[in-house]
Amino acid sequence: MSDIITLTYTVSPDDFTRAGEASSNVKNKLKQIGVAPAIVRRVAIAMYEGEINMVIHANGGEITVTVSPEDITMVLKDTGPGIPDVDKAMQAGYSTAPDDIRSLGFGAGMGLPNMKKYTDDIKIDTQLGVGTTVTMVIHM
Ligand SMILES: Nc1ncnc2c1ncn2[C@@H]1O[C@H](COP(=O)(O)OP(=O)(O)OP(=O)(O)O)[C@@H](O)[C@H]1O
Ligand SMILES: [Mg+2]
Repeated sequence: MSDIITLTYTVSPDDFTRAGEASSNVKNKLKQIGVAPAIVRRVAIAMYEGEINMVIHANGGEITVTVSPEDITMVLKDTGPGIPDVDKAMQAGYSTAPDDIRSLGFGAGMGLPNMKKYTDDIKIDTQLGVGTTVTMVIHM
């Protein structure tokens, strides 16, 4: 259908200068097509956190954002190490970020809790040694 927009991004691994590019691009595109500011803000926050996680914890990956009149779906797919315990990873304050990453201001363990908070649905498919796919949906 012509009223469905699909945006795709490649997230480079370990490139903090470019981290956040995909989410800020989506933010601008959604604004341009007239999506409500409150929705744009939620998408931008959730996607930024997921994008940064792909850079810090995985080896980068691919993000696909689908915009329909009903909802915005973000699929963040990486081929990183996977998440051993998803329930634990979802807890506020839990982080495995090393010291050099923490010195850059990341590693509060708030990314995944905020991704859950700002979306209507979040699903994490992960397999150790294979990768992680995070799917988030926000209703219009
Ligand atoms: N894509 C991923 N691949 C592998 N592990 C991940 C991934 N995303 C999150 N994790 C694991 O889940 C933990 C919690 O993630 P979360 O985003 O909540 O915190 P953080 O990234 O450590 O810190 P913050 O997001 O506050 O800077 C991470 O420390 C990491 O161990
Ligand atoms: Mg994080």
